[in-house]
Amino acid sequence: MSGAPVIVAVDGPSASGKSTISRMVAQRLGCNYVDSGAMYRAVTWKALEEKLDAGNAEQIVAMLRRIKIDFEIVTGAAQMRINGVFPGDAIRAPQVAEKVSLVAAIPEVRHVLVEQQRSLIRFGGLVMEGRDIGSVVFPETPHKFYIDANASERAKRRQQDFAAMKIETNTAGVAQALAQRDKLDSSRAVAPLQVAPGATVVDNSTNTPEQTVQIILDTIAQQQRHPRRGAQFIA
Ligand code: DC
Repeated sequence: MSGAPVIVAVDGPSASGKSTISRMVAQRLGCNYVDSGAMYRAVTWKALEEKLDAGNAEQIVAMLRRIKIDFEIVTGAAQMRINGVFPGDAIRAPQVAEKVSLVAAIPEVRHVLVEQQRSLIRFGGLVMEGRDIGSVVFPETPHKFYIDANASERAKRRQQDFAAMKIETNTAGVAQALAQRDKLDSSRAVAPLQVAPGATVVDNSTNTPEQTVQIILDTIAQQQRHPRRGAQFIA
């Protein structure tokens, strides 16, 4: 293997467990963890703060031109700041979740955030999770994974996330919101959620996080021992 930073792309639908798994893989590999969904959420959060219409691309793009985005690595994870402010858990609020797919479907928003995501290799190796990491952001990496889980398991996990943040929800509402978001994320014209060519698909419905992490680490080790013809480690 060359000394170039390792890039691991982890894609999959909402609440498939990819955040927990990506963090653990990053820690095991000594890489930084990047939650690209948090970036789309942060832009949505800012738009709602400014009382903009999340479905109005012109308004959102104008805001994007005004704001300053930068990053800090905090305990191995990239944190995106907007005008120097890290929004923290505010990006997890149901109001943000409800609108984020609209913002993420705007091509200019994706263009700006994809450039920011690529620029993070300046910090070294990355495990980046999202929807288009293996297909659009880092298509050259040989280490691509697609983490899936069945719909009821995903709804259960998302509800546990909300409960941990003391946000009241009900199972039917959470399941419905997830289904709606999956539909928008998978059917949008630009960079829809998909299994990237060459990605290893892992069904995480019944695995423990450790089991899925081990599958990913074993696959990466195997890929590093036997690089595919033409595949490369990107710097
Ligand atoms: O992973 P998440 O649920 O926090 O993602 C929030 C939203 O952002 C979701 O609707 C999909 C979108 N997203 C995207 O379009 N591309 C990414 N790389 C990551 C997230």
